[in-house]
Amino acid sequence: MPPSTSSDLTLSVNGEKYTLTVDHRTTLLDALRERLDLTGTKKGCDQGQCGACTVLVDGRRGVACLQLAVAAEGREITTIEGVADGERLHPVQQAFLDLDGLQCGYCTPGQICSAIAVIEEHAAGWPSAVTGDVRPEAGPPALTPEEIRERMSGNLCRCGAYVSIMQAVARAAGSGQGSEGAAA
Ligand code: FES
Ligand code: FES
Repeated sequence: MPPSTSSDLTLSVNGEKYTLTVDHRTTLLDALRERLDLTGTKKGCDQGQCGACTVLVDGRRGVACLQLAVAAEGREITTIEGVADGERLHPVQQAFLDLDGLQCGYCTPGQICSAIAVIEEHAAGWPSAVTGDVRPEAGPPALTPEEIRERMSGNLCRCGAYVSIMQAVARAAGSGQGSEGAAA
C-alpha cells in the first residue's frame, strides 16, 4: 500500500479548533483561505516575497505561504480575523483606519499582523538591521521612522501607502511619530 499523502490535523486559529484532512503539501495559507474560509489572510506572491499572507504563529509573525499546514498543528495561529477584541478594533487596526494606512487594502491584513509583531518585538528590546547600538545595556532603540520602515520592510504595498502605514504603526506604538509631520 503506498504511503498516505494526507493527514488529519487540528489547527488552533483565533482561539477556535478546526479539524481537517489536508494533503501534506497544503500550505497554511491555503488551509486558512480554502478550507477554513478565513480569507482575510491574502495571497500575493505565494513565494514568501510580499508579506500579504503574514499571520502570527505563537505570537511571532510569519508568512503563511511558506509554512505547511501540517507543521502548524499545536501552534496558536492568529489571523486578521482574530486580532480585534470583539467589536473593539486592535489599536493597530484603529491607527490604520484613522491615518488612512491603506488604499486598496489588499496588503493591509498582512501589514497589520506584521505591525502588531513589530511593536511587540520592539517593546521586548529586539534590535533591527538599522539599530545603531545593539548592546543590551543600550536598551531598546527609539522607534523612529527608519526603524519602522526597516522592521516593516517584508510587507510590500503595491499602492505605495507607505507614508501612512509608517505613521499608523508609529501611532499604535505610541512613539509619537504618528503625526502628519513624521518623515517618510
Ligand atoms: S503571499 Fe506569502 S509572502 Fe507573498
Ligand atoms: S493598500 Fe493596496 S497594496 Fe497596499
